[in-house]
Amino acid sequence: MFDKLAKVAGIFSEALRDAALFLRFNSYSPFVDKSKRAFYKIIIEAHTIEKGLSLPDPKLLFGKDKIRFVMAALSRYDLQHSPVPAHMSLGALDAYVNFHARAGKSDPLLDEIAGYLKTWEAKLPKPWKGGTRDCSFDGQPPGNLQHLLASRSSIRALRPTPLDPEQILQAIALAQLAPSQCNRQSSRVHAYQDPARIQELLALQGGSRGFADSVGNLFVVSSEICAWGGPGQRNQAYVDGSLFAMCLMLACRSMGWGTCPLNLAIDHKTESAIRRAGGIPAGERLIMMIAFGEPLAPETRVAFSPRRPAAEIATLHA
Ligand SMILES: Cc1cc2nc3c(=O)[nH]c(=O)nc-3n(C[C@H](O)[C@H](O)[C@H](O)COP(=O)(O)O)c2cc1C
Repeated sequence: MFDKLAKVAGIFSEALRDAALFLRFNSYSPFVDKSKRAFYKIIIEAHTIEKGLSLPDPKLLFGKDKIRFVMAALSRYDLQHSPVPAHMSLGALDAYVNFHARAGKSDPLLDEIAGYLKTWEAKLPKPWKGGTRDCSFDGQPPGNLQHLLASRSSIRALRPTPLDPEQILQAIALAQLAPSQCNRQSSRVHAYQDPARIQELLALQGGSRGFADSVGNLFVVSSEICAWGGPGQRNQAYVDGSLFAMCLMLACRSMGWGTCPLNLAIDHKTESAIRRAGGIPAGERLIMMIAFGEPLAPETRVAFSPRRPAAEIATLHA
């Protein structure tokens, strides 16, 4: 009995500590290094530009405020911290100008961006790793793991055609090869093909604006909470669930399909609404949604989303 009470008390105290840790280190915290915060903020905003350009039919002059923000924030940014946000922003701005030139559109904002880019050419020589690039679904499916990893990108130009449920199960079976703690396999996956239900779920998620109509196949990945007990395990549903979700995206890619992970960074109210709309049991923690389907074309434009050099994120300890 005492043991059980201690576990219950532990869950509350760990939740408080989670909150304290989050408050101390979250992206708004004044206690976090300014350059680190700027790094993430610029990347997040620059991604909205590259993502907009990767849509099947980008709106002319979209995201004016974001663009002004990125230019101002990048001008204040310390390049010594990491050049990646600059590559990503300049590449996205360059692609934005080129996209409008191809569309025959002129606007003072485009001249302003072009002038801004000129000022950067000396500071950070081209080619800038940003904007969009082509992702090929032509030919053979990826033959080895390195190729498979390199050939996955978030695809936001999908065909809404429902895929064969048997093949979807095959992809799920491949994803089940993901490791899980003690092999407990708490991950669950809910697959949807009913257009009305998918639109209801996507509206609650909110991150697929601009391509929601092209989604005809949707996964919600979840994890059974009852697989985890005690304060030390409070976040494990997310760890196992995310490993499963990653394998599921790679499995889909191996079947020749495109995927786009969709965040479920949501509060309890929205999580309950998604559970209700998706017929998902209350005891499952939602990990993420994944839009999937055949790519709209064999050559699909995707957001560049450059990666940091490995040495920037690695610490090789002696
Ligand atoms: C957990 C998670 C949530 C994401 N949520 C969204 C989303 O809501 N909408 C979206 O368009 N992309 C979303 N993405 C895709 C990321 O923007 C993308 O993975 C990142 O830019 C790297 O690009 P890549 O997937 O093409 O390699 C999400 C990715 C992850 C891992």
